[in-house]
Amino acid sequence: MSDDRMESVLKEERVFPPPPSFAANALIGDMETYRREHRRSLEDPDGFWAEAAGELDWFRPWERVFDGSEAPFFQWFVGGKLNICHNAVDRWADGEKRDTPAILWEGEPGDQRQLTYGELKTEVSRFANVLKSLGIHKGDTVAIYLPMTPELAIAVLACARIGAIHSVIFAGFSADSIKDRVLDADSKMVITGDGGWRRGSVLPLKSVVDEGVEACACVDKVLVVPRNPGGERMACEMRPGRDFWYDEVVAGVSDECPCEEMDAEDMLFLLYTSGSTGKPKGIMHTVGGYSVYTYLTSKYVFDLKPEDIYWCSADIGWITGHSYIVYGPLQNGATVLMYEGAPNHPEPDRFWDIVDRYKVSIFYTAPTAIRAFMKWGDDWVEKHDLSSLRLLGTVGEPINPEAWMWYHRMIGKERCPIVDTWWQTETGGILLTPLPGVTPTKPGSATLPFFGVDAAVLDPEGNEVDAGLLAIRRPWPGILRGIWGDAERFRKTYWCNWDGRYYFPGDGARRDKDGYFWVVGRVDDVVNVSGHRIGTAELESVFVEHPNVAESAVIGVPHEVKGQGLVAFVLLRGRDAEGSEELRGELNDLVAKKIGKFARPEKIIFSADLPKTRSGKIMRRLLRDIATGQALGNVTTLADPSVVDSLKEKYQA
Ligand code: PRX
Repeated sequence: MSDDRMESVLKEERVFPPPPSFAANALIGDMETYRREHRRSLEDPDGFWAEAAGELDWFRPWERVFDGSEAPFFQWFVGGKLNICHNAVDRWADGEKRDTPAILWEGEPGDQRQLTYGELKTEVSRFANVLKSLGIHKGDTVAIYLPMTPELAIAVLACARIGAIHSVIFAGFSADSIKDRVLDADSKMVITGDGGWRRGSVLPLKSVVDEGVEACACVDKVLVVPRNPGGERMACEMRPGRDFWYDEVVAGVSDECPCEEMDAEDMLFLLYTSGSTGKPKGIMHTVGGYSVYTYLTSKYVFDLKPEDIYWCSADIGWITGHSYIVYGPLQNGATVLMYEGAPNHPEPDRFWDIVDRYKVSIFYTAPTAIRAFMKWGDDWVEKHDLSSLRLLGTVGEPINPEAWMWYHRMIGKERCPIVDTWWQTETGGILLTPLPGVTPTKPGSATLPFFGVDAAVLDPEGNEVDAGLLAIRRPWPGILRGIWGDAERFRKTYWCNWDGRYYFPGDGARRDKDGYFWVVGRVDDVVNVSGHRIGTAELESVFVEHPNVAESAVIGVPHEVKGQGLVAFVLLRGRDAEGSEELRGELNDLVAKKIGKFARPEKIIFSADLPKTRSGKIMRRLLRDIATGQALGNVTTLADPSVVDSLKEKYQA
């Protein structure tokens, strides 16, 4: 975390109790209830989670709520049978919510669609039958690379319905990233589209997939969903025998597809995320625990009521979209708004225009978006009536108090509680969060643990401290079940500290006198750019693929809008020892090709040398000091201290 942010959160003493009118109508409206239930969830976790799970439908009840005998490979609801698609769709479609909107969708060009729970059930069943007709069975992995259209949610639910493991790949990833993920997961099918709109242009998804799966022998089918169902298709090259248009295959299938009875510990999905070393890792989530955890967190954190219009502006390509667009809200029978495109298309008021027109009541977004709105100016907000809003949320990175206050004043008009939710791809759902009718909020703090979560701030020896490493003391139902194909990496990454007694998320945190948590950012080499996790090692290995690059070091630096930006220090060899604009362009293109455009660094500094210890280790701390203009830390261990001065000059040039 930047020193600026540390200073501003250290000074932060404002407290905002929930507005009494909100608390009066909230599902949980007083601190006493939160404290009592939280205590109960820790003292009697089996009883607490059994009760929560009992609010969902099960085909067969579990025999044991929790089994920790194979720690850290925990199991929840052992022996239980259920299907999350049943709980998210059929439970409502076959009951009184048949005609209630499940999904309200708006495309970037302004086209609209609406699906009731009844219609969603039909669409999901048809999609599931298409998957079956193309040879997908329970336990197969299916990669999904789609724009934010209803079909993305439908495809995910259809996989869950038949027990196929979905592996959604965010549509901003490159062909190489698709290849890595498809091969690692051994996906048999890729579901993509003919295109999707972003900032006024069409993403050529199918051609990216074609390039990505070229060398993937495991893929035998590519299913292409038209962006405009029933309308004109965008031009795509189709390979006979491998590629199928969704609208053609679906014409022949039935509307009925029963939900597969899944074991609670059967896999539901894989989602790849970056770590501090190596390639992205496939985070594994299973059906039972994830269902219960996303259901309960959605219910209480968003205080969901039948009349709410709930909008989470994330993409389903990330965990936030999995848990809090698709599975959590739909398992609560909510009406979910989905928007396809950019927040500033055609103008920077698109989001407020949507809130106004759809009467959105709950809005969940990322701090990076809030900072962008602040920059675009208040006039864009003031043009719209935001009086439908009653609750705001943030996720993905620490929120600076200034952005929090702006969100509170400009968007919430000082009457909407803000839930700053801390969690990760690995946690499945929200772990630290205010409850909106209960918890007095402090700008920049994710406040207190959710039910069943026992969090602490520890030093490396395991002592509780005011500032140190965030640790979670016991498993909760939504915890990841492993890293796909790499049990060792799973143990090493999350269970290496404190003799494996606590889950280690990789974040640093502070705890204040009221026991509130202030998560300050990653303590490993993972950088959070606009809420996207990027491993610096991943980027470094991309740079060294270029023939002119001998070595590189990538660091995260504070960025006004993105939270953090990337700066690459690149050591050259060969013809272009000084570096050039051309080479800079080539390196940026390489990052776009290997990972995706969103991972391109803010700055590339070419250098003849990098600061190293005498044993040859790059001193990133010094690079960070250079990039943030700080006084340099200890340089006595450097092999060649003069390197630092020349880098400083270059950085400032
Ligand atoms: O560093 C924390 C930060 O985002 C990381 C998780 O990233 P990812 O798995 O991509 O999931 C993002 C959406 C859940 C965490 O390790 N982070 C997430 N939420 C917060 C946060 N940092 C501070 N405050 C938050 N509310």
